[in-house]
Amino acid sequence: MQIPNYEKARKRSHEKVLIRKFRMDEGLENLGLGKKFFLKTYGCQMNEHDSENIKGMLNIMNFQETLDMNKADLILLNTCSIRENAHNKAFGMLGRIKHLKESKPNIIVALCGCMAQEVGVVEEIKQKYKFVNFVFGTHNLDELPSLLKKSFHDSRLNIEVKSIEGDIVEEIPVKRESKYKAYVNIIYGCDKFCTYCIVPYTRGGQRSRKKEDILEEIRELVKEGYQEVTLLGQNVNAYGKDLYEDYTLAELLLDVSKTNIPRIRFITSHPWDFTENLVEVIRNHDNILNFVHLPVQSGSNEILRKMGRRYTKESYKKLYDSLRSIEGISITTDIIVGFPGETREQFEETLELVNYCKFDSAFTFIYSPRENTPASKLKDDISLEEKEQRLYELNELINKYSKKSNEDMLNKTYKVLVEGESIKEGMLFGYTETNKLVNFKGNKDNIGKIVDIKILDAKSFSLDGEIVG
Ligand code: 5AD
Ligand code: SF4
Repeated sequence: MQIPNYEKARKRSHEKVLIRKFRMDEGLENLGLGKKFFLKTYGCQMNEHDSENIKGMLNIMNFQETLDMNKADLILLNTCSIRENAHNKAFGMLGRIKHLKESKPNIIVALCGCMAQEVGVVEEIKQKYKFVNFVFGTHNLDELPSLLKKSFHDSRLNIEVKSIEGDIVEEIPVKRESKYKAYVNIIYGCDKFCTYCIVPYTRGGQRSRKKEDILEEIRELVKEGYQEVTLLGQNVNAYGKDLYEDYTLAELLLDVSKTNIPRIRFITSHPWDFTENLVEVIRNHDNILNFVHLPVQSGSNEILRKMGRRYTKESYKKLYDSLRSIEGISITTDIIVGFPGETREQFEETLELVNYCKFDSAFTFIYSPRENTPASKLKDDISLEEKEQRLYELNELINKYSKKSNEDMLNKTYKVLVEGESIKEGMLFGYTETNKLVNFKGNKDNIGKIVDIKILDAKSFSLDGEIVG
């Protein structure tokens, strides 16, 4: 039994991180024979990719996936801590599982992901959700097989959460969601400690994967016919800083570009670590897509300072302008409204910044206090009604620019990676290089290919088009 601890989670040691290969104890290959698992994933692409690893491990133990929770022998929740509503969803799900377990006491229930790293969550599980079989955190994903084995022998709640990030584990089995586009981790954790954010506590210190391991993974993906990779990290722009003297994200992108994978994306960028050199690398390489997600969070220097973001609106705009000079680039962002003490004037500075940048799209959030973060200790005297009003105003503006940016694409032709059948009857869907969703009519043989699509109709959140050529 190991429960989470924030003192340890906050520490950043500068010791070299060990890199080891995944191994599973012998005899676990058949643990899942005849058994089904149900996995629910909350949160960001990191979590989605962790779930691909979870599925990979369950696969080699011969579990079968079911999308019907009622048919499962094993239920796993891969959780997210970023805002209160992600929490509520996972606890709501635990409530439903509790009922299910009353009628099927033999099912095994496990909770993992970021919420498992939270002291308060683990306490609540111990008190109110004792039916859970085991909890494991983001630093010991690879222990899933052995924890599962234990829980088959002993049904009591087992909590195994490490608060100090451990080794980097390579070659964890993976079952990818897509045959055409793949997530590739390049850096784990975050050392930025923005004052509102729980991630540096739930995901630990910044640790870059070795460039050789990343490139090897991508070369394999190319061999398997993948068309697109997304390099993943909480802050990809910090890549290499903990590992190399002079090998950064820019150099990594150049090397990835040489693998000839047709499309390369990277998320998420922190403006602080975004160099001019990187801007040039994006500008000069066709397979490094012209798409940057660059969270700004606020347009007020005072709020940015209180958030611990380490840049000003002026320096953000400078970087933004430099990126915008890349032809055809799409830039998206994240914005928080209602940070403790944010005045109406400060919020209006955010609107001004949006009017300046005209983002292609944005994720917008009401500030949500997170356990143990510095901002959660600040006085928050803005009413929920006011916060909702600000979010509404912001969204109106963001949507106006999203629609405008989509309308600018009308009657022009773009390359789209066709991913599958659309939820729109009889249509296919895919994404442009700038990550815009396009629906169009076409033969299913196009799935997995990059095709030219002429845009015929533009909405706020998607486009309609037709195949040309
Ligand atoms: N409250 C609201 N939004 C948050 N984000 C991170 N932490 C919080 C919080 N406590 C948002 C930021 C970040 C995105 C992933 O989630 O905008 O960029
Ligand atoms: Fe959180 Fe800031 Fe790190 Fe992003 S950069 S994960 S917002 S601490």
